Amino acid sequence: MEDERNYNTSPSSFPYLSKQLASSTLGGSADVPVVDLNISDEELLVREVTEASQEWGVFQVVNHGIPTELMQQLQVVGKQFFDLPEAEKKAVAKEEDFEGYKRNYLEGIDAWDEHLFHRLSPPSIINYKYWPKNPPQYREVNEEYTRHMKKLAEKILGWLSEGLGLPAVALTQSLGGETAEYLIRINYYPPSPKSELALGGPAHTDIGALALLVPNEVPGLQVFKDEQWLDVEYINSAVVVFIGDQLMRMTNGRFKNVLHRATLNKERLRISWPVFVSPRHDMLVGPLPELTGDENPPKFETLVFKDYSQQTIENWEVDLQYSL
Ligand code: SIN
Ligand code: FE2
Repeated sequence: MEDERNYNTSPSSFPYLSKQLASSTLGGSADVPVVDLNISDEELLVREVTEASQEWGVFQVVNHGIPTELMQQLQVVGKQFFDLPEAEKKAVAKEEDFEGYKRNYLEGIDAWDEHLFHRLSPPSIINYKYWPKNPPQYREVNEEYTRHMKKLAEKILGWLSEGLGLPAVALTQSLGGETAEYLIRINYYPPSPKSELALGGPAHTDIGALALLVPNEVPGLQVFKDEQWLDVEYINSAVVVFIGDQLMRMTNGRFKNVLHRATLNKERLRISWPVFVSPRHDMLVGPLPELTGDENPPKFETLVFKDYSQQTIENWEVDLQYSL
């Protein structure tokens, strides 16, 4: 029988990168929720992260247990890499896949961004050829940081599962447990003299399940809520948590995949370190059977993650051509 449900799966139905949206109102004042993880009332924590995921799709966490010193080291080794001469950075240049170092120059608006993207976990998928050898501490620091990110991501997924009325392991397991992939992207946005025209990162939602981002102290991250762009306040040592497309799809739309972007600063260098948590490329992802039923039929098609991500990236590329 033909399936006549009106699935909202086509990324082209999300005009994320349209120019109108990218240049719409700035500077709303509502605050992105901040959740203190150092509270003993677990029920309250579950409620806070679940509500934030439903209403915002983004929240910041403080007192998350990641040593401040390690977060500083992560930033130091990342910046040291980008401070190297271009020729040295090319030692880990991007090739055919998405991993590696890349510099994009946006002609006409004097803006560019550089980034380094590589996998972190599980060990079987790591390509160390994309991990800088210089500075020498880069690998050790990133490995240690990965251990902490995994712990934090699994804790958050546990609370979110409970908030959905599921066993704590439900979301982690649905993302493939130990096979879930962790990737880091270092975004390096030099000061842009024409910053009112330029976005370091165009508006998008994250393709994976969750992103855990640490920025440097230069503001620039914005999220779209209630038809306006809101600045995300910089909080020293906080981690910004984004709900990505897959958690939105798995929860049948209960969690929001927040639209966000990075603006450039006229005078100061901005850097951000998002870690993405995604299902393995060949996993089927769709609304969880426990969260759907006659009363709440699936709103999204179950798709192989790789097919979803490829289609979304292709649509971004088309959309970018129109918005630049
Ligand atoms: C991102 O969405 O990956 C980048 C956002 C930022 O630079 O803060
Ligand atoms: Fe993002």
